[in-house]
Amino acid sequence: MISVFGSKVGQEELDEIRTSIEAQWMGIGPKTRAFEEQIAQRLGVPGFALLDSGSNSLYMAVKLLNLAPGTEVILPALTWISCAHAVVLAGCVPVFCDVDLGTQNVTAETIAPHLTRQTGAIMVVHYAGKPVRMQPILDFGVPVIEDAAHAVDSKLGGKACGAMGAVGAFSFDAVKNLAMGEGGGVTAQDPELITRARTLRYCGIGKSGFEASANKDRWWEYNIVDFFPKFLPNDINASIGLAQLRKLDKLQAYRKQTWELYQREFANLGWLARPCDPEPDEQHSYFTYFVRVLNGKRNAFAKYLYDRGIYTTFRYHPLHLNPIYKSNAILPMSAQLNEEGLNLPLHPNLSTADMDKIVTTVKAYSKVA
Ligand SMILES: Cc1ncc(COP(=O)(O)O)c(C=O)c1O
Repeated sequence: MISVFGSKVGQEELDEIRTSIEAQWMGIGPKTRAFEEQIAQRLGVPGFALLDSGSNSLYMAVKLLNLAPGTEVILPALTWISCAHAVVLAGCVPVFCDVDLGTQNVTAETIAPHLTRQTGAIMVVHYAGKPVRMQPILDFGVPVIEDAAHAVDSKLGGKACGAMGAVGAFSFDAVKNLAMGEGGGVTAQDPELITRARTLRYCGIGKSGFEASANKDRWWEYNIVDFFPKFLPNDINASIGLAQLRKLDKLQAYRKQTWELYQREFANLGWLARPCDPEPDEQHSYFTYFVRVLNGKRNAFAKYLYDRGIYTTFRYHPLHLNPIYKSNAILPMSAQLNEEGLNLPLHPNLSTADMDKIVTTVKAYSKVA
């Protein structure tokens, strides 16, 4: 079965992990610091706090904004569960908005109807790595959290996604463009928020050791500055991240090439709508390739591919249709995507033979559709 998502790891990652094992150091340490410095440099941000997952990075991002309980946070219904969970767990209220059909991104127009006096933040998701058009959203004057889980290599007008809002959250889980098994992190416009994230991630411990000890003779003490879970990264995952960072350009080139192949090959299929390509001022990360099946046969098409060894999925089942978040919100484009959307395999582990098979099998569906 051809996987829909994947990553490519090998000798470089093994070599980097080996040095940590040989140093008998697995916890947070020099590899974590090196990764934080290198990713901050690549993103062009004042700093980066590595955390243990993208999901926890979203919770951290909401907490960093210090929103009062009950504050509304606007976010797309069509996103990963953790976006809404982060809002709820931080004591705030998720308010779902719609997305654009061609990009699956929020826009100023889909957000505007949901702005109220209770709105304390907007969370945007750069879906598949196509940048959300940020300026009209920033112009609302409400703090913006960027979920850049798909967008580690995405830019808008030369600025990295994740570096334009108040806080940017990233994911480095096993299938992301930069994969480290599990991992994530946050950056922020205000460097103090990055320092705060480093404090919070270790159970909210502020000063510890000699710094916390008033007389310098009780170095086992610590100050606890907030109630916070443990979101600590570690040097094993950071080692994988360092190796992935060195080959990120190569991995990205492979993703781009696959995306462009699909865009060319699927150009004239009347029953299939392709995703929007990047605009001239955008850099896309090509995290996933998504289509709309227009003839009401999305489920049948997915089964047809599955029966031929090609796994697909739909990201994401809109949250306002899920019982736990069920609301009366009317979000027609999210509802339409829920019926038509499908993600096809795109990742650096696809072989040329896999790509040929996907292209041929998809095109052959024209005879069935
Ligand atoms: C848009 C989005 N945000 C956040 C996450 C959460 O990241 P993680 O899997 O590292 O917890 C994901 C994971 O797939 C995601 O797709």
